[in-house]
Amino acid sequence: MIIAVDGPAASGKGTIARALARHYALPHLDTGLLYRAVAAKLLRDELNPEREADAVSACDFDDALLDDPYLRSDAVGKAASQASAHPLVRSALLQRQRRFAQQPGGAVLDGRDIGTVIVPEADAKLFVKATPMIRARRRHAELARHGSAPSLDKVLADIRARDDRDATRKQAPMRQAADAALLDTSFLSIDAAIQRAIALVEARM
Ligand code: C5P
Repeated sequence: MIIAVDGPAASGKGTIARALARHYALPHLDTGLLYRAVAAKLLRDELNPEREADAVSACDFDDALLDDPYLRSDAVGKAASQASAHPLVRSALLQRQRRFAQQPGGAVLDGRDIGTVIVPEADAKLFVKATPMIRARRRHAELARHGSAPSLDKVLADIRARDDRDATRKQAPMRQAADAALLDTSFLSIDAAIQRAIALVEARM
């Protein structure tokens, strides 16, 4: 069983994908981490994420980087969104994601193009969304918990810029697959969102 979970930043897709993986005892891949690892390597090497040649050179990152808390920072998220717009970066990371999806027993993957490009044949697809303001509030609260607190307006502007970049790039833009179930988490608790996600997956089986 392959489950594809797509959606924008702070929609809840990561939490939902992890919960589905636990529920069905499947391995889980947060594909955003791959793009974040490319971005972290670029920033550390003082390279430019907007230059395709630079971004491609960072695709052979060391897997140990995937566990680095630096990957979760907003600076890395922004650079990941810039680097991920390059077609050569996307193709460099494609096979790794497909191999993960095709392991025996199946897998849960979350990202932006899982249901549309990486595994269009997935058994169940969810597209998770929430309003930009609600996502900004969630992100703002999370940043405040970690001690760095940009204003809510700044967080909202960053979220809108990232949505726009991810949804308008030419290669594999973020969008809901035609056969994906839509899950709006704007007014759902985490538990309610997870229960709804399980119900939607069950309905596809
Ligand atoms: O999901 P996360 O915020 O960690 O992803 C960081 C960035 O990586 C996204 O803004 C997006 O540009 C890119 N990404 C992507 N395709 C995916 C996962 C992430 O383009 N499947």
